[in-house]
Parts: sequence; C-alpha cells; structure tokens
Amino acid sequence: MRTLIKGGTIVNADSMVRADVLVDGERITTIGLQIDVPVDRTIDATGKWVIPGAIDIHTHMELPFGGTFAKDTFETGTRAAAFGGTTTIIDFAVQPRGGTLRQGLDTWHEKADGKACIDYGFHCIVSDMRDDLLPEMDRLVDEGVTTFKLFTAYPGVFLSDDGAIFKAMKQSAHNGGLIMMHAENGPVIDVVAADLVARGTTDPIGHGLARYSIFEGEATNRVIRLAQAAGAPVYIVHLSAREALNAVRAARDEGLPAFAETCPQYLFLSLDDLGHGFEGAKFVCSPPLRPADHQDELWKGLVHDDLQVVSTDHCPFDFHGQKELGRGDFRKIPNGLPGVEDRVDLIHDGGVAGGRITPSRFVEIVSTAPARLFGLTRKGVVGAGFDADLVVYDPARRHTISASTHHMDVDYSCYEGREVQGGSDVVLSRGKVIVEGGQWLGKAGDGRFIKRERSSFLR
Ligand code: URP
Ligand code: ZN
Ligand code: ZN
Repeated sequence: MRTLIKGGTIVNADSMVRADVLVDGERITTIGLQIDVPVDRTIDATGKWVIPGAIDIHTHMELPFGGTFAKDTFETGTRAAAFGGTTTIIDFAVQPRGGTLRQGLDTWHEKADGKACIDYGFHCIVSDMRDDLLPEMDRLVDEGVTTFKLFTAYPGVFLSDDGAIFKAMKQSAHNGGLIMMHAENGPVIDVVAADLVARGTTDPIGHGLARYSIFEGEATNRVIRLAQAAGAPVYIVHLSAREALNAVRAARDEGLPAFAETCPQYLFLSLDDLGHGFEGAKFVCSPPLRPADHQDELWKGLVHDDLQVVSTDHCPFDFHGQKELGRGDFRKIPNGLPGVEDRVDLIHDGGVAGGRITPSRFVEIVSTAPARLFGLTRKGVVGAGFDADLVVYDPARRHTISASTHHMDVDYSCYEGREVQGGSDVVLSRGKVIVEGGQWLGKAGDGRFIKRERSSFLR
C-alpha cells in the first residue's frame, strides 16, 4: 500500500517545510517536492501540517489503584489516544509486591496484546525494590523495557526508601536504563493529611492542601542528588510545582543529566478546581493541582527546555462509583485524571496558538523528545526510514472538549466546555489510516509492542 500525503507543511522538531510525504507499507520512504509516482491513495494536506504521530510516554490503562482500576482498557484508551493524534503510548507495568518485574510485565502484555489500537511500550513500576531485582533490570533493558519508575510517595503501596532508590540508580548507571521518579515526600504528606482529616477537612480540597509544593521540591532535589551520586541520569515524572522545576533547572545548569515532564493538568488546571465540595474529586491526582501562579513557570520551563516532555499521566476513574469511593475522606479518592485524548490539542492551543512556543517546539515536546528520551528510534520524526506514524494536523480548527464527545471511557472531562484550537484530521499508524474526519478506521490488536533502545539524551 502506497500513500502520498500532498501539499502539507511538514513540521519536525528542527524544521518546517512545505513538501510531500510518500509512505510505502509501514514506513516513510521519501520526502520530496511535488512527488509524482503511482500510489494507492493520495491525502490532500493543503493548508495543514504533517507532524509525527504524538507519543505519550506516561499512561495507566487498567491501573489498580485505591481499591479500583483505571477505567480505560488498552482498547478504549489507545483508540481515544489516536483520535487525539497520539500514535504511541508507553504504559506502566506494575510489579506485584513480593513478586518480580517480569510478573508485572506478563500481566500488562496480557492486557495489551490483541487489544491495543496503536503501538505501545512498557516501563516497569518498581513497587518493592529488592536486590534480586537488580540483575532482572539488566535483562529487561536488553529486552527493550529500559525504564523503571520508583516512588518517594504512597507509603505502603509504591514508596521506596532512599537506599533502594540509590541502588536502582546505580544499576541504571551500569546498564543504560533510565530511572523515572515520582518525587513527593509521601510520609510527610501522610502526616499533614491525617492532621487535616482530624480537624474536619475531608473534602477533595484536602488532597491539594496536604501535598505541599515544598514536599515535591524537596523530593525532586533529593532524587536528583541521589542520581548524581550514583552517576546516573534521572527523569522526573508529572512535575507540577515551581519548587520542583527549580531543582531540575539548577541540576541542568550544573550539566547534570536530569530530565522532566509536566502534564496538561498542571498547565491548564489549578488548586481552585479541587474546591466546589466533592466535585473536586474529578481533579484529584498526585502531585496535586497547584495554585494558578505555578502555570506560567511550567510554560517557561518548556520554553527553556528545563522541561523536555508533556505527557498525560492518563489514569481515568469515573466520578460516579470510582472517585466516589473517597466521599468523606479525600485520602480514599483514587488518584488520577483522564487526558490521553486531549494532550496534543491542549498543548497546541496553549503553546502555539497561545504564542508561547513555535510549531517545531510543540512537535518536539509531544513527539520527538519523548521518542529520543525513551528509545523509540523509529518514531518522532517525519523523515525517510521512520515509521509512518503521521498526523495531518489542522492548526486552525477549533473544537470544544466534552465528555459527551470524547472517546475515553470515563464519565467526565477535566476540560468540559473548553474551546481549543488545533485538531487531528487524519491519523496514520505505521502507514494505515486509523482516524479520518472524526471516524474510527483502525482495529483493536493492530498496535504492536515496541522493544525500545536505551535512551538517547537530548543536548
Ligand atoms: O494521580 C496519579 N498520578 N495517578 C497515577 C499514578 C501515578 O502516580 O502516576
Ligand atoms: Zn506518579
Ligand atoms: Zn502516573
């Protein structure tokens, strides 16, 4: 099958040029001016951009959390991702406590195999960092699972102590893997949260009040310094606060290989959303939404490359029946927000249409940097030889985000009623059109597990 995408403007992280794209089978074969060869299909991209399929390196399909499961399956979640211009996700396979990393991976392969609609990879969540896992980490890096998430939060569930984190980092210095850190001071947060509940604050706002931004700043600096001592790179996930950004910025100014992502919720939503009684449960995630004045700092972090990536931390729980588990005690609200479908358009809207970043920086943040940092060597670029994961993107189209029209399997949207500029007209996954004109043309099971290479660090 040969497809020609004609007349569009190709936007890559390092260039923006009007040219045609020829796709043969699963790959891009030629970029050229006025390509004129026999093809099976021509897609007219006049007036539109042709961008590499977006890559969301932080999702949680069917994550068990707080006595329930994140609602999207690999089928519903990856289909929704595709509608939003995302053609690859990396999800987190959770090590059962007392078990091995491989057991977690086996479970996640079962969840994804035959169901995913777009390509996917896995990170491991290390819930129980023991010495016998260290050689297993080496093997997994060789097998294409190159990244491991550890936590300084969620005591009794995911938290690792500093010694365990240091050991994992030393191992990654040796095997070329990358440690991803959820950096908040969980034990201290629990003290503040218990105090708030004892004094009668049980509504969702308590979640935001207990998890001080200073606790995120402290933990971020701590894990960066542990990585420095271990001689390892480190990647901070879902960075939400000015204090944490300052720690990353200071480390990068020293030349350390410290990297970080933020998420749309921290750029567009705020602590105020956690108010309004129990409705605020729709916005409970960790780290929590911050006061609105943190948002400009995060945008600056993206402009100056102190933040390299925006991913979603997509972890959807219905308001009815799931978030409601925490009525009367905010500590019992399952943590996480939906967003895998909305990321690309939100970042285009707030970033490019909002005059903060260039089209190329937008592509870098949502696709190219995630590909390079997470070893997806055939993705993230519109170029000959790369996978034909492509989006014909309309930077002028406006639409309104709503739970009544989104494709994620969750009963609310954090962005209900928000109008955004930018939308994916045609989405190709390895050469096959899977979304066109708002219609689903893909197939569950067509997504492939991608063995990833070791990270190649930017700059
Ligand atoms: O609230 C969140 N972020 N839920 C998902 C789990 C995690 O910590 O990433
Ligand atoms: Zn986390
Ligand atoms: Zn997460």
